[in-house]
Amino acid sequence: MDRVRIVEVGARDGLQNEAARVPAAVKIELIERLANAGLPVIEATSFVSPKWVPQMADATEVLAGLHRKPGVSYPVLVPNLQGLERAHQAGADHVAVFTAASDAFNRKNINCDIAASLLRIKPVVDRARAAGLSVRGYVSCVLGCPYQGEVQVSDVVRVAAALAQMGCEEISLGDTIGVGTPGKARAMLRAVAEAVPMARIAVHFHDTRGQALANIYACLEEGARSVDASVAGLGGCPYARGATGNVATEDLVYMLQGMGLETGVDLDALIETGRWISNKLGREPASKLGRVKKS
Ligand code: HMG
Ligand code: MG
Repeated sequence: MDRVRIVEVGARDGLQNEAARVPAAVKIELIERLANAGLPVIEATSFVSPKWVPQMADATEVLAGLHRKPGVSYPVLVPNLQGLERAHQAGADHVAVFTAASDAFNRKNINCDIAASLLRIKPVVDRARAAGLSVRGYVSCVLGCPYQGEVQVSDVVRVAAALAQMGCEEISLGDTIGVGTPGKARAMLRAVAEAVPMARIAVHFHDTRGQALANIYACLEEGARSVDASVAGLGGCPYARGATGNVATEDLVYMLQGMGLETGVDLDALIETGRWISNKLGREPASKLGRVKKS
C-alpha cells in the first residue's frame, strides 16, 4: 500500500505557542505517547534562544529525559551554531534548520533577512552533517506572510533549493499562517518540485482558515508523501500574528486511512493522546476526531 510519512510537530510547533508553562514531564509524556501511537517522526523541542521563546527553555531536559523508542526519530529545531551545540550535547541525532521565503517574517522570527539566514544556516548544516546528524530544512511563509503579504513562488523555490543544496535531506514547506488554498498550494509545490525532488519535500499546513486538509489533499495528488501535523491541532508561531495550530494529526490520519494510504498510526491511541494533552492544557482538542463522541 502507498505510504505517507507523518512528521508529528505538536510537542514543538504546538507547545512553543502556549501561554501557560507546560512542565517538561508533560512534554516528555506527550512525546512518548505519540511514539507509542505509532508516529515515526516526532519533533521533540527546539534549541532556540530562551529569550525569544521561553516555552522551549527546557529543551535539554525534554530531549535528554525521553525514553526513545527504537525506529522513531526525534528531530529538534536549531537556529544557529549555539543551538546545534546544545542539541548535540543533549543527544539529538536529527536537527532542523529554519528560514522563510519572506525577509519581513525572518526579521521578526530570527532577527535577520533571508540572505543572512542562509549564511547563518550553512555552517550549522555543515557541522551537523559532519557529526553524522541528519538535517531537515524549513521554509516558512510559502503561501503568504503576516508582515509582507504576498510571497512570490520564485522566492519559495529559491530558498528551498538553497537549503537542499546545502545538504538538508528534507525540505518542509510551511504555510505558517494558514492562508493557502488548494490551487495555490498545488502550484507552489509543483514549482518547488522542479528544483527539489518530490521525495525530499514535506508539506506543513497551519489550519488557521480551515484549508489544511484540502491543501494536503492537493499536495498528495501532486505526489507529496511527507506531511507535518500536530496532535490535537496544537500550534502556532509566536512571531506570526494570528497563526493557529497545524492540521490535526488525528484528522489527517483519518483522511489518509479513508484514501487507502498507510501511516502506521493507531488512530484510537492518537485520539486518546490528543484528548489527554488538550485536557492538560485545559481545553477541548482542536481536532474534529477528538470531539466525536465515543459510541
Ligand atoms: P538574536 O537576538 O539576533 O541572537 O536572535 P544573538 O546571537 O544576538 O543572541 C541573543 C541572546 O540569545 C544571547 O544571549 C545568546 O547567547 C542567546 P545573551 O548574550 O544576551 O545572554 N542565544 C541562544 N541561547 C540558547 N540557544 C540558542 C541561542 N542563540 C542565541 N540557540 C535567534 C537570533 C535566531 C537566536 C533568535 O531570533 C531565535 O532564537 N529565534 C527563534 C524563534 C522561533 O523559535 N520561532 C518559532 C520556530 S519557527 C516556526 O515555528 C515555523 C515552522 O513551524 C514552519 C512554519 O510553520 O512555517 C518551523
Ligand atoms: Mg509551523
